[in-house]
Amino acid sequence: MEIIIAKSYEEMSEKAAQIMKEIIEENPAAVIGLPTGSTPIGMYKRLSEMCQKGELSFAKATSFNIDEYVGLPESDPNSYHYFIGEHFLNNIDIPSEKTHLPNGMAEKLEEEAENYEETLAAAGYLDVLFAGIGHDGHLGFDEPGDHFQRRTNLVDLDPITIEANSRFFNNKEEVPTQAITMGIGTMMASRKIVVMASGEGKAEIVKQLVESEVTPQLPATILHFHPNALLLLDAEAAKLL
Ligand code: PGA
Repeated sequence: MEIIIAKSYEEMSEKAAQIMKEIIEENPAAVIGLPTGSTPIGMYKRLSEMCQKGELSFAKATSFNIDEYVGLPESDPNSYHYFIGEHFLNNIDIPSEKTHLPNGMAEKLEEEAENYEETLAAAGYLDVLFAGIGHDGHLGFDEPGDHFQRRTNLVDLDPITIEANSRFFNNKEEVPTQAITMGIGTMMASRKIVVMASGEGKAEIVKQLVESEVTPQLPATILHFHPNALLLLDAEAAKLL
């Protein structure tokens, strides 16, 4: 796992945007995996600007979001459909039929997860996956457990995740308790993985990720087994390394 430490959140976001730009320039039809959360907002802002200035085009690309809450309609500002539209997909020239998110309102959620995995498989999986890391070491919503979740599946959210994400809701009780997320196996099928972390609050989990053995108790440690994984940090997130 390669590690790059940027001086600031701005520099980290710039580097992430440049990595995405290079991938799209090399292969305009790339299949890209997209995260939500606070961390990638700076990257999305830069990529949106590049696209609006005509410096970059996602017209031939295909996107798959990593995850979506169960029970929030697309119109809910806390849904990941809404988030990724606002911050990225509505600002770029990717055709909407080439963008994918799990449907957390599906009647049969397990079937929805299986279908999402099948759609990903049919697309040849991801050329690049960008992801954040949770305070509990999750990637997407793959929470700590006694085994690595293999494929896209329906999961219960960890109390640490519910607590962390409650900052976006009126209170903790409003945070959904379940989500559909790509599994670690799905993510590992990506040709390249870029995990970003920013801020002092992530310093401890980043240290654990770098120093720990590979264990499903800290799902992101699987990155140690990936041949093309990059951990992209700002100085604060890297301060315990
Ligand atoms: P954050 O979330 O970017 O809002 O810190 C990351 C995550 O939980 O995966």
